[in-house]
Amino acid sequence: MAPHVLIFPLPLQGPVNCMLKLAELLCISGISVTVLNTNHIQRMLLRHTNVLTRFGRYLNFRFETISDGLPDDHPRTGDRVLELFEGLKAVTEPVFREMMVSGCFSSKSDAPVTVIIPDGVYPFVLDVAEEVKIPVIYFETISPCALWTYLCLPNMVAAGEVPFKSNDLDVMIKSVPGTVNFLRRRDLPSFFRFDDLADIQTQIVLKEARSVPRAYGLILNTFQALDASILVHMQTLCPNTYCIGPIHKLYKSHLTSESILLSNVSNSLWEENITCFSWLDSQVPRSVVYVSIGSMAGMTVDQFFEFWHGLVNSGKHFLWVQRPCSILGEYDDNQVPRRLVEETKKRGFITTWVPQEAVLAHSAIGVFLTHSGWNSTLESIMEGVPMICWPQNVDQQVNSRFVSDVWKIGIDIKDTCDRLTIEKAVKDVMDVKRSELIESLRMFVELGGQSVTEDGSSIMDFNRLIKTIKSL
Ligand code: UDX
Repeated sequence: MAPHVLIFPLPLQGPVNCMLKLAELLCISGISVTVLNTNHIQRMLLRHTNVLTRFGRYLNFRFETISDGLPDDHPRTGDRVLELFEGLKAVTEPVFREMMVSGCFSSKSDAPVTVIIPDGVYPFVLDVAEEVKIPVIYFETISPCALWTYLCLPNMVAAGEVPFKSNDLDVMIKSVPGTVNFLRRRDLPSFFRFDDLADIQTQIVLKEARSVPRAYGLILNTFQALDASILVHMQTLCPNTYCIGPIHKLYKSHLTSESILLSNVSNSLWEENITCFSWLDSQVPRSVVYVSIGSMAGMTVDQFFEFWHGLVNSGKHFLWVQRPCSILGEYDDNQVPRRLVEETKKRGFITTWVPQEAVLAHSAIGVFLTHSGWNSTLESIMEGVPMICWPQNVDQQVNSRFVSDVWKIGIDIKDTCDRLTIEKAVKDVMDVKRSELIESLRMFVELGGQSVTEDGSSIMDFNRLIKTIKSL
């Protein structure tokens, strides 16, 4: 039977980006692929990218869509992400089941679906897949270190470490093997801060923790040398893992070796402002603070002003992505101190969305002030850019702890947001600690690069994945 993979991404920028890259890599390897996007994501992709032309090159590819259960005019912002999960449960789940039971993807492409690759956050896909007897290989688009804390959640509950009250966040966690010397309550995923196990987000994580090890396999966006200390534990629960990251580099290396034109391969859900590059070209090397909090995180008006003061007070130049709807609340232009406006005109560039991979690769970038989403973290590591981490939710609290205390490639300012902390963090990373951070980064840039070149660990795992898919 010809292999036909159904890829089902979580409708967020980071996961969609990774899954589309995987889809294209599979197509190039001769596997038929259907990508099932939510209607909303598909509309945004079609508005801002050339995905139809790009994927149109592959006769073995098709897009399909499904409702996310929310009305068209819902903002789908991070502060309302629970509504998205409710919509997925109430509407997407039964519709997906109906689609699979009726074999609709199979009949449309003349080939039955032989493998499903859903985001790890969709436990229901495994239930449906078992019913229709199709193997599932989960793709966890969050970090392995955070996934490991998800998988250990039942142990933490049994040991009485979770749930906890949020007032003493510096208590050390003991039930997550491989992290006992440095993981505090504060560093656990945001979902774990609820003191009630019945909380809907905790329940989502518990379901994920139970379903992921039951799947046929698990794809991770990492490379062995980065996450070896966690992978060795994770493989006791999920023995069949494929570490194919950093996927954005694996993607580039494959497309280059296949001589496929690499221009304009954006998967952005918002319009990219490319005029930032002429501004960056005019900056001194390694002098700019790049600020972005990804596709879902937000900041209150007060936090926004603390960020702004901190950046201006640091005296550095900055490129700041202010995504539409990322500032939670309203403010009046008259509230903005004149000094901030004047200094920003001289030293700042503010925009709504940029081609981030290319921005991080620009020689002017000296530090990334980030929300610590997993894609942003990997992209920063691979360009050798040290980070200041201001994590908000999902895996970000775990990632920022690994950045600061395990990999030692940045500093973690979680749970604080004041101008003094931001100013100090910028000066520390740009001036005081720069050489030691760059030294650690250099090693990961090299090891990450090796993993996606001939015989590298990620290439070998990717080839093993292809072989598995073709055999199922
Ligand atoms: C979500 C979660 O928030 C994150 O914690 C989890 O690890 C993955 O899913 P998101 O918020 O989108 O992801 O963050 P991240 O994983 O960092 O992905 C953001 C993506 O958007 C990156 O690939 C980045 O390159 C891209 N981006 C960001 C742009 O292309 N332009 C921008 O201006 C900002």
